[in-house]
Amino acid sequence: MVTASYVAALDIGNRSIKTVVVHKDPGDQDKINVLGYGIVPAKSVTRGAIDTEDEIKSIKKSVSMAERSAKTKIETAYIGISPTVMITTPMVVEIKKREVSRFNENDVNKVLEMAEKKFATWLTKSTKVKKFLGDQVILHVLARNFVIDKRNTVESPVGFTGRNLLVNAYIVTVPRVVLDSIRNCVNSVGIGVKEVVFEPIAAAESVLRERERKEGVLLLDIGCKTTQYAVFYKNGIIVSGVVGQGGWDFTSDLTKVFGIDFSTAEKIKCSYGDISGISTNDVIPIDEDTVLNVTEVNKVLVSRAEHLIGERIRKEIVEARKIGNYIGTGGVVITGGGSNLKGLTRFIRHSFGVPVRKASPIGIEGRNIMTPEWAVAVGLAKYGIKVEARKEGKGLFKWLGGKFGSWFDRYI
Ligand SMILES: Nc1ncnc2c1ncn2[C@@H]1O[C@H](COP(=O)(O)OP(=O)(O)OP(=O)(O)O)[C@@H](O)[C@H]1O
Ligand SMILES: [Mg+2]
Repeated sequence: MVTASYVAALDIGNRSIKTVVVHKDPGDQDKINVLGYGIVPAKSVTRGAIDTEDEIKSIKKSVSMAERSAKTKIETAYIGISPTVMITTPMVVEIKKREVSRFNENDVNKVLEMAEKKFATWLTKSTKVKKFLGDQVILHVLARNFVIDKRNTVESPVGFTGRNLLVNAYIVTVPRVVLDSIRNCVNSVGIGVKEVVFEPIAAAESVLRERERKEGVLLLDIGCKTTQYAVFYKNGIIVSGVVGQGGWDFTSDLTKVFGIDFSTAEKIKCSYGDISGISTNDVIPIDEDTVLNVTEVNKVLVSRAEHLIGERIRKEIVEARKIGNYIGTGGVVITGGGSNLKGLTRFIRHSFGVPVRKASPIGIEGRNIMTPEWAVAVGLAKYGIKVEARKEGKGLFKWLGGKFGSWFDRYI
């Protein structure tokens, strides 16, 4: 059985369902031991919504695989979510105490709760949201930063003295139908949902360095049918979201342009694809009388990258640039299976003019899942370890101050 010091996580992706079971390293606060994992191809997940029967079978397989390898039974898990229809919005709220005193965690919770209430009231009244985005549920209420007595901006006010406490909060909502379908699928394989987490927040837990979160960084998790992004600055989240395009679209373009089947296109992309702009006369044999020119293949991949990164992602992060140049020396960090496309780091470096690195989960030991595909699953487990520690009163989130662990209780 997965006991308190063990945490299980489930990343229900468009390409594969990944499960991990981890155990906190008693000697090191920032390290976790991976006890086991499972990975199976996804059957019918479509950009966040799960199409039940087939998917339940895949989830079951992935979980059983992880249970066998960890030699333990999974009863509850942290689950990732990446819907393309959602709201992410800033919210400013202030409290005033009767007298000057030291701020504590209760004050932090109070001001975040007020931000949540204020937004929830707006949400219930907004007929436009219902009409265009469907019924939305608040998933996270995070603190970008706090301002004490209108002048002192801090990452956490705990321990500071003052009277007024203002929070620049950041709220993430997800559609109720997507949440319901995830919860039902997971429950139907006999697993309780500990918490549902917006995936870029989970990925950040496993791949970002503290320095990057402080200096300003854009995190891109390039998956199969989605690319999730989040900008962090001074340990707070500035913007985040999901674009409905990923590695699948690169492959799909090749099938359309060259009239080849999907699995051939996928192999070509992974083996020969390179978008760094180097031209070559090499050819790829397809069958006895067909060859493809590598440079022509790469032109198709470059044009998808221009659309996904140069247009869609650029447009999404313009907001972050408007409120200050948040993507500082931390640059861009790419992860997820799609980040394996050769030449992508160079392409983004040219496109955005900032440092770029490809990242895999850090701070884990035990099993070899240190590849970009595992960023979300491992990040969910790391997030879970922190939530459990917090519940036991063993410390605060070092960054991304927010209200955690309570959403699911409220929702059910
Ligand atoms: N070497 C490679 N070159 C290019 N693309 C690759 C390579 N290896 C994997 N990919 C792509 O990575 C994608 C799968 O990544 P990942 O496992 O992160 O997706 P997922 O989490 O299941 O999907 P999503 O995040 O969209 O739900 C596929 O589209 C695959 O083609
Ligand atoms: Mg993914």
